Amino acid sequence: MFQPSVGSDKAALDTPILCIDLDVMESNIRSMASYITERGKQWRPHEKCHKTPAIALKQIAAGAIGVTCAKVSEAEVMAAAGIHDILIANMIVGQPKVERVASLCQTADPIVACDHFVQVEPLAETCRRNGVSCRVIVEVNIGLDRVGISPGRDTLELAKAIDQLDGVRLAGIMGYEGHLLKHEPLDEKQSLIHEAMNVLVGCRDSLLENGLCCDIVSAGGTGSYQITSDCPGVTELQAGGGIFADPMYQNMCHVRDLEYSLTVLATIASRPTLERAILDCGRKTLHPDFHLPIVKNHADAEAVRLSAEHCELKLGPQSQELQIGDKVELIPGYADFTTVMHDNFYGFRGNRLEVVWPILARGKLQ
Ligand SMILES: Cc1ncc(COP(=O)(O)O)c(C=O)c1O
Repeated sequence: MFQPSVGSDKAALDTPILCIDLDVMESNIRSMASYITERGKQWRPHEKCHKTPAIALKQIAAGAIGVTCAKVSEAEVMAAAGIHDILIANMIVGQPKVERVASLCQTADPIVACDHFVQVEPLAETCRRNGVSCRVIVEVNIGLDRVGISPGRDTLELAKAIDQLDGVRLAGIMGYEGHLLKHEPLDEKQSLIHEAMNVLVGCRDSLLENGLCCDIVSAGGTGSYQITSDCPGVTELQAGGGIFADPMYQNMCHVRDLEYSLTVLATIASRPTLERAILDCGRKTLHPDFHLPIVKNHADAEAVRLSAEHCELKLGPQSQELQIGDKVELIPGYADFTTVMHDNFYGFRGNRLEVVWPILARGKLQ
């Protein structure tokens, strides 16, 4: 397989490829870590935007306590890289997954989310049989209306039932304020997030009053961490995607003080008219959902249409000098859906290729 050598100049590389500006990503990592820890919280970044242990290890080196994953198979990849403290912020259903979580407990210290006793009982039984014990947190519905048990009595009853089971250990609760990320105006978003976190902290109080463990109160995403970090009672933030600081977060969620660090390097394959350029990348290279890509360094060029292998740029007067063969960088609107289409990240220091990271948890869907 063709693989460019470290030290290559960006302009010399074949396209399309998924590029990271390492200086910018590292600065975003430092910025997120310090924002969260300065407010007395822990950082447990969601790895779904990068799915790459090398990047998770950079986050941990900057102060993260571990990672958040969406899938057991992602957690396995992170554990294989030596990461110990792993939250699987998802419901684990079905014996194959339960067995995998129990074996993960041999090498790591995972935490599994749940919102019903039916999910926990088989996990507890399997862990007992394997001589391990797994941490469990209760996911509370704080308004997203996705998964999550109702706050109040239902949450307390589930926590009590988990507490009675051998093979699992109640570690706390989580909630995700995903329904508020794009809320306008900003001051209303702030107060709604504080209200949602008060619901979560109310659940914590009720667990503690009943003598149950609630060491962890986990919440937050990139679109909200700059608010949720200030909410009393929350112990850790799951914000992850801010390391790439996608246009969606910056333009639709009011996220500030982070810079775009992810691009797709593409080549102009056709120049059908003065105002139209066609790139050698399309929906199979970068995903336009949530926010269209932005053309880097060409303010009056706009990505207007993507088909499977083509991206149409509308060129203003200042970018009409672009020719067939020229390279252009696109900033994906939302990294998560783009990362999963690539084998590798190409990490650049300036224009020099410094590292190629295989996206090891790509395709890990179970
Ligand atoms: C459970 C959970 N936590 C956190 C996040 C936030 O992730 P990110 O910071 O990458 O936007 C998400 C996003 O979907 C999520 O589902």
